[in-house]
Amino acid sequence: MKIAVVGTGYVGLVTGTCLAETGNDVVCVDVNAEKVAKMRNGEIPIYEPGLDILFLRNIVQKRLTFTTQLEEAVLDAQIIFMALPTPPGGDGSADLSYVLGASKDIARLIKDYKVVVTKSTVPVGTADKVRAVFAENTSVEVDVVSNPEFLREGVAVEDFMKPDRVVVGTSSDRARALMAELYGPYVRSGNPIIFMDERSSELTKYAANSFLATKITFMNEIANMCELVGADVDMVRRGIGSDARIGKRFLFPGVGYGGSCFPKDVQALAKSADEVDYDFSILKSVMSVNEKQKTVLVEKMKKYYNGDLAGKKFAIWGLAFKPETDDIREAPALYIIDALLAENANIVAYDPEAMDNVKRLKGDRIAFAADPYEALKDVDALVIVTEWSLFRNPDFARMEEAMKAKVIFDGRNLYDLNRMVDYGYYYNSIGRIIVEQ
Ligand code: UDX
Repeated sequence: MKIAVVGTGYVGLVTGTCLAETGNDVVCVDVNAEKVAKMRNGEIPIYEPGLDILFLRNIVQKRLTFTTQLEEAVLDAQIIFMALPTPPGGDGSADLSYVLGASKDIARLIKDYKVVVTKSTVPVGTADKVRAVFAENTSVEVDVVSNPEFLREGVAVEDFMKPDRVVVGTSSDRARALMAELYGPYVRSGNPIIFMDERSSELTKYAANSFLATKITFMNEIANMCELVGADVDMVRRGIGSDARIGKRFLFPGVGYGGSCFPKDVQALAKSADEVDYDFSILKSVMSVNEKQKTVLVEKMKKYYNGDLAGKKFAIWGLAFKPETDDIREAPALYIIDALLAENANIVAYDPEAMDNVKRLKGDRIAFAADPYEALKDVDALVIVTEWSLFRNPDFARMEEAMKAKVIFDGRNLYDLNRMVDYGYYYNSIGRIIVEQ
């Protein structure tokens, strides 16, 4: 099939590349000429494991092309995906100006029937707004479809190629048939393409992310309780996760959820609820608990150092909002860094992928190390923020040599408590017993 993808951010690029992989001709459009030039040369603008191979293969085989000209992409396309940003506006609601602006531009160009798909996370009712923009600007028949993405950064290729489900919101049989044809190759193992109306589809995306954010937040609160009553959250997690109704995944407590989706989507759903005079109180609690959770490690540190962090030197392992990405949007590490800097502490950070991004934000207010052990040189403590695999089994003898004191604050519960007893560390993690030296 002939596909256009408007917007080559994270979602657009993964969508375009993965759609080309099953034989479709995909043209990606972006207004950023420099980015388009780079992509034409095979340079991939984001870090996403496994995407580079598919990206290059499909460029070489000429199924994946790039342009700055909307016209080149949309004229021949049967299906046009809009993967445009929907940033939170000043009041927390999603800003639809990119989506509606692109709709108007597309409407003025097209000459025959198109399926126009909103892939971006958009509030309920957006399909109607997009449809209205098309109706005002073209007489050509257009079906507007909602098709939210459920891609996790770091495993986005797998999530796209083998989705748990595909959600398609449309009231048109013609669009439904085209979408079923397009997604058929991705659901061969029997996972469903769930067709529904546009509004339910739009709400499904917010409900999924808000539910997951709530699940994590619930576990963070259980972890906080565990610390107060002397229980071990790892045990509680296993104890409840084995119940199929609860499920084992997304039960890991930590330093709060971050990233480009959960914080924005929870906020946007709460805002949508306000607009229809519904008091979605769980979401409000989720947001406020998550804010607090982001600095739980700093509170632990203040307690340990009797409120005096000034002049102390701390290593931070992990800056990205989660492993396998260089993305630092809403990353808890940024909040932790700011809180530590406010206490006049010194910071040396290490992250396998995200250091350049943090450098751009924080400049020389913190130092960066070339490897995890270099970061530990003469530090008063190690603070673990992101659970990159390489932090899971470090060389504790080498760590001990580098560090001034054997103190670890672990926001991701990476280490076995008994092991830390054996190694003689002070080890303070989330929702578990503190190992004292
Ligand atoms: C999420 C959704 O999973 C995805 O379906 C949606 O399309 C986009 O948003 P992503 O933002 O890539 O994906 O990250 P995800 O892996 O879901 O993690 C989100 C945040 O929750 C991270 O900050 C992560 O550290 C945190 N998290 C996740 C926990 O704290 N504990 C967990 O058990 C799981």
